[in-house]
Amino acid sequence: MKTQNNQLPTGGSRAVRLDSFGGPEVLDVREVPAPQAGPGQLRVRVTAAGLNPMDWVITADADAAARFGLSLPAGFGTDYAGVVDQVGDGVRSFAPGDRVFGGALSRAVADFVVIEPAGGTAANEVHHTPDGVDDRTAATLTIAGRTASAALATVVPGPDDTVLIGGAAGGVGVFAVQLARIAGARVIGTGSATSADYLRDLGAEPVAYGDGLADRVRALAPGGVTAAIDLYGVETVHVARELGVPDDRICTVAAQVDGVPSAYAPNAAPGALEEIARLVETGRLRVPVAASFPVDQIRRATELQAGRHVQGKIVIDL
Ligand SMILES: NC(=O)c1ccc[n+]([C@@H]2O[C@H](COP(=O)([O-])OP(=O)(O)OC[C@H]3O[C@@H](n4cnc5c(N)ncnc54)[C@H](OP(=O)(O)O)[C@@H]3O)[C@@H](O)[C@H]2O)c1
Repeated sequence: MKTQNNQLPTGGSRAVRLDSFGGPEVLDVREVPAPQAGPGQLRVRVTAAGLNPMDWVITADADAAARFGLSLPAGFGTDYAGVVDQVGDGVRSFAPGDRVFGGALSRAVADFVVIEPAGGTAANEVHHTPDGVDDRTAATLTIAGRTASAALATVVPGPDDTVLIGGAAGGVGVFAVQLARIAGARVIGTGSATSADYLRDLGAEPVAYGDGLADRVRALAPGGVTAAIDLYGVETVHVARELGVPDDRICTVAAQVDGVPSAYAPNAAPGALEEIARLVETGRLRVPVAASFPVDQIRRATELQAGRHVQGKIVIDL
């Protein structure tokens, strides 16, 4: 095994742990033995972890946790970025000192995570962080970037399209809006009044969600909407249908609707995440970090995320 000096934080190795499933109140920062990389594995000294709704959804109750193979005591968080500090036998593409980011299912908010590079899904994956991408940003890419990419691959927006994106100001929305714009589409994004300027900055034309949405979209796009992605629930699906968008050009990520395709983070095309990281590095895509918190404020950070009105991403510093 190859190693580098870990720069262990004072007091040893910390991890967010929960002894019972529930809300933010069950999250605690604990001293734990640092995990060790075995053959085919590497260990990352995590410097930043990005939060996603799935973090608190899958740890909210035993049934949800069981669907993701979690048992107690459980860890928390999936998106991470940091530096490789141990490499087990048989790992060839990574070396100690490499800057990396990726996904570690419900164990990322910790000083160390162990990853199997051959894993290859959002639950267990690692990528080199481009030089021009800082760790906080890299820690936001995996789940939201994969999900947006999978959703865009479902509706395939292009220069002739006007795409309605529901929940456009959230973590997945920032990627979906910008990727659709890069593909040449006109984007109308739903959000609250508070998010209007933010959506404009991302490249979307803002429209308020809620009653009357179809009329507001008609007024903005009298020529019609040709594709839609619902990142929040089903309102955008119903409005898109009402506006004549065919089901095969509508996509959900947060709910299922009969006849409408759903996109999932693990379904993103191979290389999609590297492409997103390259877009970030070259300044063509930016990821607004709405707030960052030290790990001992994990409950506060998770409460903010679970409020569902964050513009962009929340990051935990380690
Ligand atoms: N299928 C998958 O693999 C997959 C992967 C990732 C995420 N997801 C799901 O996708 C959804 C979006 O994830 P995310 O990370 O983007 O969530 P998020 O960051 O928590 O989304 C927050 C955004 O939701 C907006 N919002 C709040 N109420 C809304 C409403 N009634 N209608 C439309 N938008 C509303 C907010 O806008 P305002 O502040 O302007 O109200 C805010 O910008 C979640 O349900 C998540 O569980 C699924």
